[in-house]
Amino acid sequence: MQVMKLDQLETPCLLLDESRLERNVARMRAHLDSLGVNLRLHVKTAKSIDVVRRVLRSPQDPITVSTLKEAEYFLANGVQNILYAVGMTPNKLEHVTDLRRRGAGLALILDSVEAAHAVAAHARSRADRIPVLIEIDCDGHRSGMLPGDPALIEAGRVLADGGCELRGVMTHAGGSYNCTTVAAIKAMALQERDAVLNAAKALRTAELPCPVVSVGSTPTATCAGNLTGVTEVRAGVFVFFDLVMAGLQVCTLDDIALSVLASVIGHQREKGWIIVDAGWMAMSRDRGSAKQKIDQGYGLVCNAQGEPYPDLIMTDANQEHGVIALRQGARAALPDLPLGTLLRILPNHACATGAQHQAYQVVREGSDTVGATWPRFAGW
Ligand SMILES: Cc1ncc(COP(=O)(O)O)c(C=O)c1O
Repeated sequence: MQVMKLDQLETPCLLLDESRLERNVARMRAHLDSLGVNLRLHVKTAKSIDVVRRVLRSPQDPITVSTLKEAEYFLANGVQNILYAVGMTPNKLEHVTDLRRRGAGLALILDSVEAAHAVAAHARSRADRIPVLIEIDCDGHRSGMLPGDPALIEAGRVLADGGCELRGVMTHAGGSYNCTTVAAIKAMALQERDAVLNAAKALRTAELPCPVVSVGSTPTATCAGNLTGVTEVRAGVFVFFDLVMAGLQVCTLDDIALSVLASVIGHQREKGWIIVDAGWMAMSRDRGSAKQKIDQGYGLVCNAQGEPYPDLIMTDANQEHGVIALRQGARAALPDLPLGTLLRILPNHACATGAQHQAYQVVREGSDTVGATWPRFAGW
C-alpha cells in the first residue's frame, strides 16, 4: 500500500490507533487469565477480521455475534466457534441450519419455553442437535428468564429432551452502563455472576446439563474480581473503548483507540462555534454520555495527534456538519483552529460510531502515517 499521511486522508473518516488497541486487548487478556476464564470476544464492535485477528489467539478461539451476517462473515474468514447472542426467532432457523451445514459451530440463545419449542422442533426436523444457551436476566435491563423461574427448567427440558444440545446459560449485565461508581460496577459483576450461577444450579439440580456459564459486558468484565464458576466472558467494546466507558471509569481517555478524523470547514466566531465536516453520519446519533456526570455532546475534540483540547466538544450535529464549542462552564479559551485544521473526535459509543464507516484507517500512537486500511462491514 502507498504510504499515506493523516493529512492526505479525505475527511471524515474513522481512525484506529493500533497501539491502543493492542494495549486494551493485552490488559483484558491478562485480567481474564488471572481470573481463570476464557474470553469469547464480541465481534459486533469491530465487525472486521483484521481487528478480530489481533484479539484472537487462534482461529479456534470463540466469538460472540449479534447478527447472522457477522456469523457468515467470520465463518468465511475461518472462525467457527460462534455464539449468536440475540434471542432466536423461527424466521432465522433455516439460515442457522445452513451456517451449521457449512461448518459453523453455531450456538443460539433463547429465553422462553415458546422459543425452546420452536428451536427444538426445527432441530428435530433437520436431525441437527443445535446447541442452545438459555438467556438469564441478571439486572432487569433487557431480556432473559429469572434464575428462579420454573419456566427455566421447562425450557431446559424442552431443549434437552427435544433434540437440541442444552449447552448452558448466559447473561449480559447491560445495566452496568448505568452505574455511577466503580464500586457499583463491581457489585454488578457479582450480581451478573450470581444470576447465572443460580440458574446453572437450578438446571443441574433438575438433572439437566449446563456445561457453559457465560457472562459479559465490558464494564463488568473489566471490574470483576472473582468469576469462580463462570466458564467464559463476552465483551467487545474494550478493544476500542469510548467516552461512555471513560465516564464509567473503566478506561481513561488515553485508552480510546477509535476516533473520527474531521476537518474544520468554517467558523461562527460571534457564537463561539467551529464547524467541522463530521456530523451525526460520521459520529452516530449516540449521546450515551448525556446521562453521565460529564456530558461529552457528540464527541470530545482532540488535535490531530490525539491530545484532547480542554472542554472542547461537539455540541450539536447535523447530518454532515458538526458544531464544535466549549462546554458550558468551561474555563479554557476557544482554540484558534483555522480552516482545514485536522481534528480527532473521540466517540461516545465505539459500536455506534464504527457502524457509520466502511473502513478503519490504522495509525500507531505518536505517528501521522496511516499504516493500513482495514475494511469493516455493516447491515444484516
Ligand atoms: C449479549 C451480549 N453479550 C456481550 C456484550 C458485550 O458487551 P460490551 O459491548 O459492553 O463489550 C453485549 C453488548 O451489547 C451483548 O449484547
